[in-house]
Amino acid sequence: MTERRLLLVNGPNLNLLGTRQPEIYGATTLAQIEQMVVDVAGGLGFSVRAVQSNHEGVLIDAIHAARDDCRGIVINPGAFTHTSVAIADALSAVELPVAEVHLSNVHRREPFRHHSYVSAVAEMVIAGAGPLGYEYAVRYLAGGLG
Ligand code: DQA
Repeated sequence: MTERRLLLVNGPNLNLLGTRQPEIYGATTLAQIEQMVVDVAGGLGFSVRAVQSNHEGVLIDAIHAARDDCRGIVINPGAFTHTSVAIADALSAVELPVAEVHLSNVHRREPFRHHSYVSAVAEMVIAGAGPLGYEYAVRYLAGGLG
């Protein structure tokens, strides 16, 4: 059994959190979210590898690498949620439990945000809880992994 580690993936534009449309995404920075995830996971006995990229292939490579040394994946794919069959395929391929997180409630936003390719391969989806969504996702995955 691999080490008790989770992969945290954040997709395009999420590096701008804190200054990007704070009325939608809030004032919390990505660094603060990553630290919170590390703290919550640590309390549950898990370490975290955090990856953010604006490039689809980099995210796919990180997902592939998780197969070897992670036990679950928390992912906010950003706009790739709505466009990327390739990220959904990568998540399927590695056969790890996936928790999909969105800071905003995508279902009350533009119609193009209502469909997610990732949801079909995720065990749980949480949208609209802000940064707390990441905490819920970690607790959910850690609980299921024992
Ligand atoms: C998002 C929602 C997406 O529609 C958007 O493209 C993002 C962020 C969210 O966290 O609410 O970049 O995933």
